[in-house]
Order: sequence, then structure tokens, then C-alpha cells
Amino acid sequence: MSDERLVLTEVSGHIATITLNRPKALNALSPELMDELIAAVEAADADDSIRVLILTGGPKVFAAGADIKAMIESSPMKMHAGGIIAKWDRIRSCAKPIIAAVGGYALGGGCELAMMCDIILASESAQFGQPEINIGVIPGAGGTQRLTRAIGPYRAMELILTGEMISAQEAARYGLVNHVCPAESLMGEARRLAEKIASRPPMAVRMAKDAVRYAAETTLREGLEIEKRNFYMLFDTQDQKEGMRAFIEKRKPEFTGE
Ligand code: CAA
Repeated sequence: MSDERLVLTEVSGHIATITLNRPKALNALSPELMDELIAAVEAADADDSIRVLILTGGPKVFAAGADIKAMIESSPMKMHAGGIIAKWDRIRSCAKPIIAAVGGYALGGGCELAMMCDIILASESAQFGQPEINIGVIPGAGGTQRLTRAIGPYRAMELILTGEMISAQEAARYGLVNHVCPAESLMGEARRLAEKIASRPPMAVRMAKDAVRYAAETTLREGLEIEKRNFYMLFDTQDQKEGMRAFIEKRKPEFTGE
């Protein structure tokens, strides 16, 4: 067995770039790769010096889905007991923003993984889709729910029932992708955006992510309560005092993360 890492992490300043590293299998999301990915995301989340994560699959592919070869002989109980897909939710639990930089195919579990991130940037040649129907199953890591919320029920239904792909440009038009960039500037754009977010007060960034996430996951009434709670909690931070004081004193704030 190869001891090559399936997931690579590079830290620079306040930003951790996590790269899926299984190019020969188009970054198919095997249980081993997902274990490494979850560990990398949780390590970055626990590291106080890191404020934003970038998740990419490299310049050619994001991920072509869950590993079909690892799943073919599985059974419902094996899938359930192994928590194979349930584990993926731990990525969604990351309190810090994750930017997906999609350089090629984001299919099936790959599209679902991108949708677990908070912002999606794509290169001009990226393609998105939920092709599970073509192999006799349906999306199992959030595709039927998150894609529907992201692009609307009619478009999601067509994509999931036909298994067809859409281009980065279409995905942007539908609201799934934030920005489409030339392949050569994808990582630069991801980094620029990550740095901008990393320069904002980290506690406010966390609370904002938390509140926005609730908008898609709960009722309006509950979401508004969470927003209010998070807003109030920030009045316990030094960065709130500094941000408001700097505004009044007409100077640039210096945020410390406290
Ligand atoms: N699982 C396992 N291996 C995969 C894979 C996957 N999802 N996707 C690609 N690979 C492997 C191929 O088997 C191939 O390996 P070999 O060289 O050993 O044969 C290698 O990656 C290169 O793939 P292709 O030769 O197929 O490359 P291509 O350029 O001709 O086609 C593609 C690219 C259109 C993405 C095609 O590989 C493809 O359709 N992949 C499967 C996509 C898919 O169905 N994804 C959904 C998976 S199920 C899922 O994700 C469930 C869920 O919701 C969690």
C-alpha cells in the first residue's frame, strides 16, 4: 500500500490550503481520503492561527464523487455502521469559513463536498453535477437538499434526474458558484478572497458563518433568534469595541481576534 498522503495541507499566514491528492482516480472520495480530509479540516479549525480554509482538488479536477469501487459491494448496514457518509458532516461543522476552489469536475460527492463549503470559486472549465442516477443510486451526502436550496427545486430536479453536468458559467448563473475565473488565476483569486475574510475580526466571521448557515437549515423564526444571539454575543469581544471605536475615531481598526 502506498504511504502517499491523500490530502495535503499548506499553511501560509492565516490561511490553510487543503488539497485533495488522488489525481489518478480524479480525487474519488474513498473512506481513507475522507478520513484524512476530515482530520485536516478539524486540525485547521482547532488551530488559532488559521482563520480561513481553502479546499481544492488541484488545477484539473475537484472530485469525481464518492469512490464507486469502494462502494460497489457495500450493504445498507455496512454503510450505516461505518458512518461512511455521516462522517462527512464533520466538514460542515467547521466553524471557520471554507472556500472551495473548483478546478475541474465536481461531481456527485465532489459537488456535495463543494456545497459543504461556504463560498465556491470555479475555473472556466469546471463542471458540476449529481450523476448518481447513472449508477443506480441518488446523491447521499446532501445533494438533493443543498443543491435544491442553492439553485431551486426545478433546476435541481432536472440535474438530479438526468445526471447531466452543468458548466461553471451555468453554475454561476444559477447561484451555485460565486465567481468563475481563468484556470491560472483560480488559486490566486481564492487566496485573495481568503485574505480579505482573514483580515476581518475572526469572532464576527465565525458568528456570521454560523448565522448564515442557519438560514438554509432552519425556519426563519429560529434563524432570526440565532442571528440575534450571535449579534449580542459579539458585544463580549474586544474587536467589537475596537471596530466601533475606530469608526468613530475615523481610523483603521486593529483587530486582535479577542
Ligand atoms: N470512483 C472511483 N473511481 C473513479 C471515480 C469515482 N467516482 N471517478 C473516476 N474514477 C477513476 C476511473 O475509474 C479511472 O480509473 P482507472 O484509470 O483505474 O480506470 C480514473 O478515475 C479516470 O477516470 P475516467 O477514465 O473515467 O476519466 P474520464 O476523463 O474519461 O471521465 C468522468 C471523467 C466523467 C468524471 C468519469 O470518471 C465519471 O463519470 N466518474 C464517475 C462520476 C460519478 O458517477 N460520481 C458519483 C459517484 S457516487 C457518489 O458520489 C455518491 C454520493 O452522493 C456520496
